[in-house]
Amino acid sequence: MKNNRSHKAHSTGPETEIQGYGTVVNRPLSLDHKVRLASVDSLNQILADTMTLRDLYKKHHWQVSGPNFYQLHLLFDKHYGEQAELVDALAERVQTLGGVAIAMAPDVAETTRIARPPQGREDATMQIFRLLQAHELIIDESREAARSAAAGGDDGTNDLLVSEVVRKNEFQVWFLSEQIAGAGIANKDQEAIFAKAHG
Ligand SMILES: [Fe+2]
Repeated sequence: MKNNRSHKAHSTGPETEIQGYGTVVNRPLSLDHKVRLASVDSLNQILADTMTLRDLYKKHHWQVSGPNFYQLHLLFDKHYGEQAELVDALAERVQTLGGVAIAMAPDVAETTRIARPPQGREDATMQIFRLLQAHELIIDESREAARSAAAGGDDGTNDLLVSEVVRKNEFQVWFLSEQIAGAGIANKDQEAIFAKAHG
């Protein structure tokens, strides 16, 4: 969450740190410090959410059950691999801009906006809805961050977010959505299922 992040940015790190989280060092990129700071802040949020979605895919790859076990087991792992590639691209964009990429699970857990799933197993339909919800959150925040980056002149960040993050997430939503359609579950039931999951 934003409050946690700003708290971290202003807290004093251990003696071993050479650069604090939430700061950006100068780079000859012809981009204002303020623009790079804003891009890094947005990218770290999207990075934390993408790491969470990546891990959600592996959880579901392992724990899936039902008549579509094998194809979902494979699909979830394919999407896991693609999300892992996005994680690396996002983290390296943060470093490119002179920032510090969020990296470790405890920091990711307190930063992500994706709801924490239960430790136990859920059925395949619930797994897919949970993934769709996470995708939509990431697509939404990535489009917004892409527009802000472009407005500040950070075309590189805009390109990464639009060409890689938004488009890959949209593509994965297509594959998940068609799984639901194949199960004969209408869109009007989605809210009821979410309500049950979060109630
Ligand atoms: Fe596996």
